[in-house]
Amino acid sequence: MVEALSRNLRGPDPDWWHQRYLQQAEWTRSLRHHLYRWLEIARCRRILEVGCGTGAIAEELAERTTAEVHGLDADRSALALLRGRPRGRGVCLAAGDAEALPYPDGSFDLIATHYFWLWAGDPPQAARECRRVLRSGGVLAALAEPDYSRRKDVPNGNPPIGEFLSQDLKERGANPEIGAGLRDIFIQAGFATEAGMLDGEVGLEVQPEIFQQEWEMLARLGYPSSELDSLKASSGLKIIMPVHWAIGRRL
Ligand SMILES: C[S@@+](CC[C@H](N)C(=O)[O-])C[C@H]1O[C@@H](n2cnc3c(N)ncnc32)[C@H](O)[C@@H]1O
Repeated sequence: MVEALSRNLRGPDPDWWHQRYLQQAEWTRSLRHHLYRWLEIARCRRILEVGCGTGAIAEELAERTTAEVHGLDADRSALALLRGRPRGRGVCLAAGDAEALPYPDGSFDLIATHYFWLWAGDPPQAARECRRVLRSGGVLAALAEPDYSRRKDVPNGNPPIGEFLSQDLKERGANPEIGAGLRDIFIQAGFATEAGMLDGEVGLEVQPEIFQQEWEMLARLGYPSSELDSLKASSGLKIIMPVHWAIGRRL
């Protein structure tokens, strides 16, 4: 099951994906750090990141707390990359499926997720599993979940980039619109839940490195090269990306 999942989720180049994940984590940093303060993560003793990938967030959690930090992912190649970095050694790693977490009941104070739920095959089951392995009063945090279907690019490209990326994600088995459904999923799993959404905005003049990586990714995914060239030549380029968050407390 784990191997089957990992084949579907990512190409064969975990280093490239790690750079991509670091970039995504940069986009969502202010929202995430606000949630860390709200949740008082410094008081946690045991934290799990479900869907930790190559560790962009798990490493940060290990650095910012004295908690025992665990990371779980279905993709063994991502975990191997994380295990190989000095900072990654501060994270206890496990290959496994979010739908059947390999931890006893009540193991964690906090479960963090970041850009995870869109890839989770059965989000309600994953949320129920998170509830099971949280202690009473523990928190499940969706720190940032992008809504690609509502992404807007200026200029928007033809085909519009948000639509192109949403379609690509759907073809690879993801749900790019899951963010708006997290509140209900958490409530149905038995969490007292608060949720919301922010519009992140980046501009080429301010953060050119983000655009370089977006163009590379679009080229990899087969976005028409002539259209990409004309986008690169445009001025005033902007990306507006809605990002959902949700906090569920186990009562
Ligand atoms: C987009 S990556 C995000 C990685 C990391 N959270 C970050 O923000 O850098 C999503 C990760 O979720 C993992 N994943 C998806 N479904 C999973 C499941 N059912 N069980 C475990 N991991 C899963 C994927 O293997 C992938 O590494």
